Amino acid sequence: MSMYKLAPSILSADFSRLGAEVALIEQGGADLIHVDVMDGHFVPNITFGAAVMKSLDGHTKLPYDVHLMIEEPDRYLEDFAAAGTEFITVHQEACIHLDRTLSHIRSLGKKAGVSLNPATPLCLLSEVLSAVDLVLIMSVNPGFGGQKFIPAALDKIRRLAALRKEGGHDFLIEVDGGVTLANAAEVLAAGADILVAGSAVFSADDIAARTAAFKKLDVK
Ligand code: DX5
Ligand code: ZN
Repeated sequence: MSMYKLAPSILSADFSRLGAEVALIEQGGADLIHVDVMDGHFVPNITFGAAVMKSLDGHTKLPYDVHLMIEEPDRYLEDFAAAGTEFITVHQEACIHLDRTLSHIRSLGKKAGVSLNPATPLCLLSEVLSAVDLVLIMSVNPGFGGQKFIPAALDKIRRLAALRKEGGHDFLIEVDGGVTLANAAEVLAAGADILVAGSAVFSADDIAARTAAFKKLDVK
């Protein structure tokens, strides 16, 4: 049985039939629904907010995994917590008071995640590794689905897994961007616990079967 978690990103879904497509990933064995929130400032693109999550009520039982690619995320944490989510992840680069923001997420009863862009070094998280439930390593520059995996992310994942072990931490490692059936095993072997996949899941003719194919790959 597969141990890792798959979080398909609805950024790549057909928004005109979002409820039906989310039902297909659930049927295929997805573990989480990755929700890519973009504000047109932190990243060039604009997507959607907590209202879209609320609109899926009744269409799925899967927990959400919210990835906030926005400036001043503290202003919106209550909204996303109220929409019902397991994880809320903010970007290190967007948070001047990161420790305060992570505590804020936990105070709302949610698991706190922090994400790093490809150019941001792991050492910038050294003081918060005990304050996070999840670290999200970006393997593309955030803003768009369908980009190519940046190979240097693999070494970053390995170094993060080593830091976790050395420090006795228990956060999860999530990897986001350019993950496909062809590279997923390598990303898991590097130390990932959660894989995000947008276009690789939702561009398939059979979304449920593609989801199931991802879940069958397990190298751990
Ligand atoms: C990128 C987003 C990703 C993206 C993944 O800014 O954070 O979650 O949707 O899409 P793929 O898997 O197509 O790279
Ligand atoms: Zn994402």
